Amino acid sequence: MIRIVVLISGGGSNLQSLLDQCQAGILDAQIGAVISNRPDAFGLSRARQAGVKALTLDHTDFTERAAFDRALAELVDAQQPDLIVLAGFMRILTDDFVKQFAGKMINIHPSLLPLYPGLNTHQRALDAGDSKAGATVHFVTAELDGGPAIARVEVDITDQDNAESLARKVLTQEHKLYPAVVDWFVKGRLSLNNNQALLDDSPLPKGGCVLDTAAL
Ligand code: GAR
Repeated sequence: MIRIVVLISGGGSNLQSLLDQCQAGILDAQIGAVISNRPDAFGLSRARQAGVKALTLDHTDFTERAAFDRALAELVDAQQPDLIVLAGFMRILTDDFVKQFAGKMINIHPSLLPLYPGLNTHQRALDAGDSKAGATVHFVTAELDGGPAIARVEVDITDQDNAESLARKVLTQEHKLYPAVVDWFVKGRLSLNNNQALLDDSPLPKGGCVLDTAAL
């Protein structure tokens, strides 16, 4: 069975959706460990509750990013993962870390990439007057929130939306999008080749294919 390591920094609601789908047998995978860079991340409790190993590597114990990433790489590697899932892991990773796990590390980001990498994505979409927002899952490369896209979900922005309401709407969709993409990986349908994401050996569109979560 495919072994997954999930990296988190916070609430872990995306982690929860993956734990739930593994527990229900919908995802034929095992979450071997959850690792947080923050000792107080609520996602660690979610992991323990599900009987999954919960580990902390506190980035504030390190003075240099490279030293933290080396320790993180060692810890991740020790879990022998087939797939590393970044779920609200709010750290910029060094090139060496990213290269070590190339093709088997994915991230979810709350915007329609390549729009709005980084923070405050929902406010930036509102400020730009966009009619749509969403989330994108992509393979992780050295570029921040910028690796080859796999799939996205889109939501409409209404006149009533503010950053909080939009974040809630998008997060609800993330909980369907992420397990669907992980399922592709688990079934061996997803790969990375020459900086291009492939599904069933066919290149995925630049911003990732649009998933209709209502159909999931
Ligand atoms: C999610 O919205 C995720 O897309 C975002 O953090 C949130 C984590 O929520 N990730 C990023 O912004 C990465 N650049 P969660 O802890 O409840 O899953």
